[in-house]
Amino acid sequence: MADLITIFSVVGARPQFIKLAPIVHALQRTGVVNHQILHTGQHYDENMSSVFFDELDIPRPDVDLGVGSGSHAVQTAAMMVKLEEVYQRERPDAVLVYGDTNSTLAAALAAAKIHIPIAHVEAGLRSFNRDMPEEINRIVTDHCSDRLYVPTVTGMRNLKNENLLERSVLTGDVMRDVVENNRKQAESKSRILEEHKLCPDGFGLLTLHRPVNTTAEALRHLLATLDRNARAHKITMVLPVHPRTLAILNSMTLTDFRAIRFIEPLAYLDMIRLVGAARVVVTDSGGLQKEAAFLGTYCITVREETEWTETVEMGINVLVGTDADQINAAFDKVMSNAGPFAATVFQELDKQYGVGDAATVIAQDLLTWLNGKDCRKL
Ligand code: UD1
Repeated sequence: MADLITIFSVVGARPQFIKLAPIVHALQRTGVVNHQILHTGQHYDENMSSVFFDELDIPRPDVDLGVGSGSHAVQTAAMMVKLEEVYQRERPDAVLVYGDTNSTLAAALAAAKIHIPIAHVEAGLRSFNRDMPEEINRIVTDHCSDRLYVPTVTGMRNLKNENLLERSVLTGDVMRDVVENNRKQAESKSRILEEHKLCPDGFGLLTLHRPVNTTAEALRHLLATLDRNARAHKITMVLPVHPRTLAILNSMTLTDFRAIRFIEPLAYLDMIRLVGAARVVVTDSGGLQKEAAFLGTYCITVREETEWTETVEMGINVLVGTDADQINAAFDKVMSNAGPFAATVFQELDKQYGVGDAATVIAQDLLTWLNGKDCRKL
């Protein structure tokens, strides 16, 4: 029997566990890959980490580096030291990295320095805002990766502009895969609406965790503005609180924001259920903008820019920054939109993000690429 190809997936933060799920299953289906999962430990709370492995049927990590929280340099450096040790010992045929977190950057840099081939899932995205740590992580990761798996045509264009087109493959979006693989289960299994006594379309879903939105001043301003809008439109905003946001909320009087309901972070199926049933999603997350789109819910993005410009061009996502007037106008606009998205919007989403087979495309390309003589750097 031919030797198995050893591929390491390095993940560490919540959105990466989600992106990993369809890749795990697509690699398993090939029957020729020894796929090992390395968890950096960037996210370590039960509800930020292991709950996703259980729900999305991802095997437990083969290696848990337990790095935990820290400043950017401390966290990234600690991951690199530990990853290099494992890479040196095991010499995988390739390392797969996901998205744009510090775990992505550390995994790619450590592999690049010792000449282990790197493939980047969700490559090519740019916000063109270098104040975001994720933007730096993306740029560096793309430039030290050997194979770039790109979710959108916009991403391909960005990579062309950086002379990286030759190593890029347009795959569609793995987050589409995850939504499509789990939406029925979310409908049948999740009890989150009942648990919080929420009616479909009778509430909004809110998430805030970006450093720029979680200073005490910025967070107070956003919550006050959103609270006013929620009251005006007679809906409750449900906010599953990220640990970074919780640390700031602890110093505030939450009863000032009576239309906002603060709840624990949610597992994937509960989140998908809430997104699908919400009247509106308000967020500074990247992934949630698309989950809202795939599930037919309008989104208001409280950031100055987005990597997912297609959703804005389609008119189903409004970029508002943090200006109160812009937020008010976006609320008025979104709340006046009656009924589901037009069929043409869903057709456009299929065209822009694929139909849920991105992981299969990636797994097949990865094998072809690694079997190519010129690519294997062993
Ligand atoms: C990271 C990613 C961000 C992604 C987000 C998803 C980077 C630079 N950012 O941001 O792109 O959108 O994950 O959540 O990598 N904490 C806990 N428990 C945990 C994890 C974190 O309490 O399990 C707290 C710690 O106090 C930590 C803070 O949350 O300092 C922030 O965590 P960190 O991983 O540094 O960044 P995120 O904001 O989660």
